[in-house]
Amino acid sequence: MANPRLVSRRKFLKIAGGALGAGVVACGGATFFGLRTPSSVHFLEESFCEGQSKRILVAYASKCGATAEISGAITEALCASGLSAELKRAAHVTSLEGYQGVVLGTAIYMGNPLKEAIKFVEEFGSQMAGIPFALFDVCLTMKEVTPENEKAALDYLKPISDRVSPIKTVAFAGRIDYATLPPLYRMFAQADKEGILAEGDFRDWTAISTWAKDLGVVLADYS
Ligand SMILES: Cc1cc2nc3c(=O)[nH]c(=O)nc-3n(C[C@H](O)[C@H](O)[C@H](O)COP(=O)(O)O)c2cc1C
Repeated sequence: MANPRLVSRRKFLKIAGGALGAGVVACGGATFFGLRTPSSVHFLEESFCEGQSKRILVAYASKCGATAEISGAITEALCASGLSAELKRAAHVTSLEGYQGVVLGTAIYMGNPLKEAIKFVEEFGSQMAGIPFALFDVCLTMKEVTPENEKAALDYLKPISDRVSPIKTVAFAGRIDYATLPPLYRMFAQADKEGILAEGDFRDWTAISTWAKDLGVVLADYS
């Protein structure tokens, strides 16, 4: 019998895929605008602790800001571990030169990492041999932490981890905040009767900071 606690990829595809399909029919050319992130959402890019021992890149792909904020917290924790850490949107990275470690984070939509994250490994994968690489995703499947949900949430990362092997991977629970959703997503999140896309911030900042501190130790010792 299916496990009712497992928020499956199929469920998201049903809600979100149906949403987008209907959006295309309903809005035609306006669909593109319906998928735009509201301009109030801030995507931070910043260098932390410049000049400290190793230079680590924290690149992220985020549509509504939750992954961006988690990536910021990870960057700060790496800096607190004595590393020099740079936070950038994955789409804005032009080179990996000078980095001694790479962390890539992506939000999950309709069962997939965002295309910026996939493009990142397509573009830089060949340069990443020998550079320690850590990978995480942010999704609602992790709203409830069970072994099944954890497996499903980590499986979302296969299009990336099949290309470049990470030394550390993790999945974190994300957030649904209607104010940060593109109009089409918001429309269908509000119409979702099962409540899978109901509003809530499920990010576990303790789990994020613990993972980032452990990663800091691994990256600092890596040779
Ligand atoms: C339209 C839509 C589709 C989503 N699809 C999935 C999915 O397939 N699996 C999942 O676990 N979470 C899914 N989520 C939840 C997002 O991964 C979660 O909201 C995450 O925090 C988004 O990160 P961001 O704010 O950085 O874009 C979906 C959310 C929306 C609005």
